[in-house]
Amino acid sequence: LLMISIKSEREIELMREAGKKNIMTFKEIEKYLKPGITTKKLDTIVHDFVVKNGCVPSTLGYEGYPASVCISVNDEVVHGIPGNRVIKDGDIVSVDLVISYKGYHADATRTYIIGDVPDDVRDLVENTKGAFYAGVACVKEGARIRDISRAIEKYAHDHGLSVVEELVGHGIGASMHEEPDVPNFDDNNMTKLKAGMTIAIEPMLNLGSKKVYLEDDDWTVRTIDGKPSAHYENTVLVTKDGYEILTGE
Ligand code: MF3
Ligand code: CO
Repeated sequence: LLMISIKSEREIELMREAGKKNIMTFKEIEKYLKPGITTKKLDTIVHDFVVKNGCVPSTLGYEGYPASVCISVNDEVVHGIPGNRVIKDGDIVSVDLVISYKGYHADATRTYIIGDVPDDVRDLVENTKGAFYAGVACVKEGARIRDISRAIEKYAHDHGLSVVEELVGHGIGASMHEEPDVPNFDDNNMTKLKAGMTIAIEPMLNLGSKKVYLEDDDWTVRTIDGKPSAHYENTVLVTKDGYEILTGE
């Protein structure tokens, strides 16, 4: 039995606020995300900015995760742990940030291109964002999770990219992860969307093989072939006739 929470107007307002502060944090990160900075330094900047805004970094201490943000570079797919790694020209950097405001979470990811990258890597990053928009375009009351999944998968395949299957989008609200799962591939999920549901839609697309593995640190997920991976995510409110992106620009 699926227990999918329908948010009240008050809860939605808190999630809007969390979403705004989340995106403000991305604007702050963008000031510092340049060649030469370490991922640990970025984590410190994120932590201090989030706390200063009256929010809590949701990942810090979550199941033992040691940082306020996940930073995954190049062939790292998700859950990269900030550390001594130095960002360099030619990297692609996924920044995945979840924060809560008065107990309500907002989850977003952006993948940044640092300096010059080959055209196929640039296309990977742009088309991963495109896949998110293909998926979210299906969102409205009465649509099915499967509609989102299929749209993302088709967009990825039409652009020559593969879809990571081990990690999926999710409901979000008073918890960072709620029902339902929102896969980026067709999983025959017939669950119907209702107005007031809030979901994180987050395609993770690879330039090469869809296969991934978990590193020895028990967090970092990498592509099996070492080719780059990109990630794009927003927290989305389902409405009667469409959607509202709570972590929009
Ligand atoms: N944004 C991630 C997600 O969508 C959260 C990171 S999970 C953590 O699930 F475990 F690393 F905290
Ligand atoms: Co998420």
